[in-house]
Amino acid sequence: MAQHDENVVWHAHAVSREERESQHGHKGVVLWFTGLSGSGKSTVAGALEQALHHIGVSTYLLDGDNVRHGLCRDLGFSDDDRKENIRRVGEVANLMVDAGLLLLTAFISPHRAERQMVRDMLGEGRFIEVFVDTPLVICKMRDPKGLYKKARAGELHNFTGIDSVYEAPEPADIHLNGEQLVTQLTVQLLDLLRQRDIIQS
Ligand code: ADX
Repeated sequence: MAQHDENVVWHAHAVSREERESQHGHKGVVLWFTGLSGSGKSTVAGALEQALHHIGVSTYLLDGDNVRHGLCRDLGFSDDDRKENIRRVGEVANLMVDAGLLLLTAFISPHRAERQMVRDMLGEGRFIEVFVDTPLVICKMRDPKGLYKKARAGELHNFTGIDSVYEAPEPADIHLNGEQLVTQLTVQLLDLLRQRDIIQS
C-alpha cells in the first residue's frame, strides 16, 4: 500500500473542533456497535439515531451493509479484507467525529485488535464500544437476510460465528442484551450518553 508522500503537508484549519462542537451543542463521539450478523446492531443504532435526531443532536449512521456498496465495495470477508474495512471506516469515523457529529457505526468488526486500533485513533472519550450481545442461536433463528441458511448449506464461506471468528469485547463500554426490546436498549444508550455528559436532554 502506498505511504503518504513527504511533500504532502498537513493543513491546519481555521475553524477548530471545539468551535464545531460548540455549534452542534454536544461533543463529537462515535458509538461503535459490534456484534454478530443479525444481533441487532443496525436496528438498535437506527432507533437510537432517530431518538437523538428528534432531540436536536447532529448524528450520522454508518452501516456495514451500506458502506460495502460504496467505499468498501472492493472488499470481501477474509480476515485481511475485514481488517481493511474497519481501517477505512475508522478513518471516516475519525473525520466525522472531528466534524463534531455523534456518529453511530454498525459493523460486525469481529477482531479486538481492529476495534482497539480505532479506539487509539480517536482518542480517549471519543470511542464508545457498544456490544450487542445476542446468542448465535438467536441470530440464526432471526436470519433476516437468509445468510445463515446459505452458510449452513455451504453456499457462503467465512461467515462470522460459523467458520470465521468473532472476538467479544472484554469489556465493552456498554454490554447490551440483544434479546431485549429495541426500545429498552435505546433507553440504556441514552442514559449512558447523559452519564458521560455527551448529551444534556
Ligand atoms: S465486518 O466483519 O467487516 O465488520 P460488515 O459489518 O462490514 O463486516 O458486514 C457484515 C454484513 O455483510 C453482514 O451483516 C451480512 O449482511 C453481510 N455478509 C455477507 N457475507 C458475510 C460473511 N461471510 N460474514 C459476515 N457477514 C457477511
